[in-house]
Amino acid sequence: MRKKLVAGNWKMHGNLAENNKLLDAVVAGVSGLRDASVAVCVPYPYIPSVQVKLSDTNVSWGGQNVSQYDKGAYTGEVSTTMLKDFCCTYVIVGHSERRTIFNENNKIVAEKYVAAQNAGLIPILCVGETLEQREAGTTEQIIEEQINAVVSLAGVDSLSKAVVAYEPIWAIGTGKTASPQQAQEVHAFIRKGIAAQNASVAENLTIQYGGSVKANNAAELFAMPDIDGGLIGGASLISGDFITICHALQN
Ligand code: PGA
Repeated sequence: MRKKLVAGNWKMHGNLAENNKLLDAVVAGVSGLRDASVAVCVPYPYIPSVQVKLSDTNVSWGGQNVSQYDKGAYTGEVSTTMLKDFCCTYVIVGHSERRTIFNENNKIVAEKYVAAQNAGLIPILCVGETLEQREAGTTEQIIEEQINAVVSLAGVDSLSKAVVAYEPIWAIGTGKTASPQQAQEVHAFIRKGIAAQNASVAENLTIQYGGSVKANNAAELFAMPDIDGGLIGGASLISGDFITICHALQN
């Protein structure tokens, strides 16, 4: 059975006091969960304190971005080995906010994915289409290009050490969730494309859905056969909502 994963993406939110309160509640709220994995991807400066807080709990942690370069004169960047120093398990690569606001193209995202895996981090590779692309009927083509960029650089087998997050851009932070059927269609498309290259990698790949997952819609999304959890933005900042979403994995 493939692994299910709910990961919180705090984005640029939080402060020490709020984070501690949030994590105390989350740790207590998910302590009884079996089989399902829970993680939080937090802003860089908080990673050390999150590590202290989450060590010896069943919640993992990670970054929201990482440099494709190992080290050197890259002012403002953070390397994969730095994230490893603080025992991160995951790192998000290619989030649509990175792609659109910070101009990360498929090539850069693929390089970050490879750098993450080389350091022993599990990349959470985000893919997804804009509203215009969906309306123009190019969703599958866009997703295929985003996945292919990674597969051609790292090989299809690399996906056995990665998570994919399907995040339609029109659903992120908008309150407009993809319907379970809409999401399932794209998840099945992703899995089928990978299965054509390696059936067992496809079968075991965790594919999360992200984009306005909330406490009241998580269960129906996670009930779809190819949706293996979620990448959660806004709702990951509200402990009660995030806990409910984590529990929805087991229903
Ligand atoms: P959202 O964000 O849940 O606030 O829509 C999801 C994401 O950007 O990962």
